[in-house]
Amino acid sequence: MSFILVTGGAGYIGSHVVKELLQKGYQPIVYDNLDTGHREAVREAPLIEGDLADGEKLRETFQTYSIKAVIHFAASCLVEESVEHPLKYFKNNLSNSIQLLEVMEEFQVNQIVFSSSAAVYGEPLEIPISEEHPSAPTNPYGETKWMFEQILQRSSKAGRVRYISLRYFNAAGADPEGDLGEDHSPETHLIPLVLRAAFFGKPISIFGTDYDTPDGTCIRDYIHVTDLAHGHLLALQRLESGRDSGIYNLGNGKGFSVREVIQVAERVTGEKINILESPRRPGDPSCLIASSEKIRKELGWRPRYPELERMIQTAWNWHRSQFKAMSRMPD
Ligand code: UFG
Repeated sequence: MSFILVTGGAGYIGSHVVKELLQKGYQPIVYDNLDTGHREAVREAPLIEGDLADGEKLRETFQTYSIKAVIHFAASCLVEESVEHPLKYFKNNLSNSIQLLEVMEEFQVNQIVFSSSAAVYGEPLEIPISEEHPSAPTNPYGETKWMFEQILQRSSKAGRVRYISLRYFNAAGADPEGDLGEDHSPETHLIPLVLRAAFFGKPISIFGTDYDTPDGTCIRDYIHVTDLAHGHLLALQRLESGRDSGIYNLGNGKGFSVREVIQVAERVTGEKINILESPRRPGDPSCLIASSEKIRKELGWRPRYPELERMIQTAWNWHRSQFKAMSRMPD
């Protein structure tokens, strides 16, 4: 039996991908240090609690399981933290990822799907952003994602690896069956914070109301996490079919402002959400919208849940069940 190693498979996007893999008849194994991931998010796949920095454990995993491909999520992913602690990011996201490639090479595993980010583009020069848009990341997080893409490109040119890098825009929503959802601590993302505000009756801060956008707030391209997960399956299948490596955006090609997200959340939850107009968050681009034409054309990707309302509804279903079990708003 061959396995798909999913590093960071106990995290938000990783756990949804594991579910999708199982549904499609693959055998995932999760490798996660549970620093930000959750044991409960891994139900039917073996979980190896390990860090990518632990070369011995990683080798042992490759020795124990016959691994045919890797989907690599494990990373630190807080933009602000990356500015304050750049070394943590270069170590976790770059050195550890290089070690993963080395071990893959030792065990002759040469297929990898990499979790990249819209953060590789930095401040966009044009909208929508295609894969040809120049990369000028504005923070260490984005830099580590971009640098690892360069490493993959070089390694692939040398015939060492075949890869697909997926540049996500704003992942949102939760498993429509209610099994999985987004659980970060601390939480920094807009939609989960808006839903907390709705449930606990606390205000949500809008970071910046003076952007050059129709309502003055930042615009983002939200993509349902299940649609993201499906993109990984298509990427894996492409590698399995022996075709070329490549880089693909994953977004819906439609932008929503922070105020629009709050309005949709009010409709979904039936709650009035109080807002606090706050200063800009450093480093936030005013508008990020993807062109996902390439992945549509080359991999046949189509979103099943492109409506923001559906993303927020699935997130609300999951968050509400979590909030009900809490006596106060989480930090
Ligand atoms: N926002 C608020 N209030 C909040 C939280 C967020 O107004 O309490 C705003 C942000 O300023 C931003 C938008 O809501 O304009 C979305 O913010 P998120 O933090 O949800 O998402 P980001 O667009 O900042 O981050 C996403 C990914 C990151 C990735 C980054 C790249 O989640 O992993 O895009 O730019 F690095």
